[in-house]
Amino acid sequence: MVRSALLGASHSDRLRLAVERFPLTRNLVERYVAGTEQADAVRVAGDLVDDGLTVTIDHLGEDTLDRSQATAVAQAYVSLLEAVQKNEFGADVEVSVKLSAVGQALPGDGEAIALDNARQICQAAADAGTTVTLDMENHTTTDSTLGILRELRQDFPSTGAVLQAYLRRTEADCRDLAHEGSRVRLCKGAYNEPESVAFQDRGEVDRSYVRCMKVLFGGEGYPMIATHDPRLVEIAGSLAARHRREQGSYEYQMLYGIRPREQRRLVRAGEKVRVYVPYGQEWYGYLVRRLAEKPANLAFFLRSVASKK
Ligand code: FDA
Repeated sequence: MVRSALLGASHSDRLRLAVERFPLTRNLVERYVAGTEQADAVRVAGDLVDDGLTVTIDHLGEDTLDRSQATAVAQAYVSLLEAVQKNEFGADVEVSVKLSAVGQALPGDGEAIALDNARQICQAAADAGTTVTLDMENHTTTDSTLGILRELRQDFPSTGAVLQAYLRRTEADCRDLAHEGSRVRLCKGAYNEPESVAFQDRGEVDRSYVRCMKVLFGGEGYPMIATHDPRLVEIAGSLAARHRREQGSYEYQMLYGIRPREQRRLVRAGEKVRVYVPYGQEWYGYLVRRLAEKPANLAFFLRSVASKK
């Protein structure tokens, strides 16, 4: 219930303003977000690469309802990728893009606008010698996002997809995408979804995650195992061994600020690990989803707010 209420709050403008005004919540924001500026993201990415990790950078923002804002987000990505090129990060630093931030939800020709903006981002990534992964948002966008992915892959075949294990459809989507050259990030899923389309029970979501991993590791593609769940990380390792996959023919992914010691332990064990690093002004929706995942974070957040009163 707490999770649903929090995820509902991710759309509340009033709560957003209240949170933004509390300086004491800044610690929590800084734990999960590199900073508000491109330079912050580039600096954090460089530090992580120095530690042997790889990175995917997310320019925060979603649900853009204004065409000029969608263009501005695409330009921010292009500028970020120019910085990636300048720093010679190559494929160690890629980007993650939410299609709703580049126009997908605009009325009328939103999908075409998002595709056009995403193409510009993919071209800038190709110029920088790196890749793009399309984040997955709520279930009403899944078909549209996979459609845009198919279009993008015609010119930029390394464009990655995200699939969410909590959706009932995802095992079938994994089968469709487990082909050669296909990069698929598998996560549990972070949105508030109805029972008709998504497993509600955590155990059921975990079992779906394992079934999906079996499909991805058994296929020809490049699995990207995005979870902090120790049991799933262990099962991923066993599946990689069972399918005789060499380290580097798949990767682990975790969020910036979550289980950083585990990220480095995996690197020391020879695994490829990519850290998802968000930056930008629009950190509110992202932060609320992280709070919904971990009750201890919520307690910390509420204590900060209470101590300010
Ligand atoms: P789970 O939530 O069960 O957590 C397992 C353990 O991890 C916890 O017990 C705790 O120890 C630790 N942990 C997890 N969350 C934490 C937190 N917020 N703070 C502190 N500790 C925490 N979702 C989506 O819908 N679309 C997307 O495109 C993406 N993209 C994405 C990229 C990457 C790289 C990652 C890692 C995740 C995503 N997600 C996502 C989010 C994902 O769907 C999911 O909500 C979170 O990863 C949390 O799920 P876990 O698999 O970590 O398990």
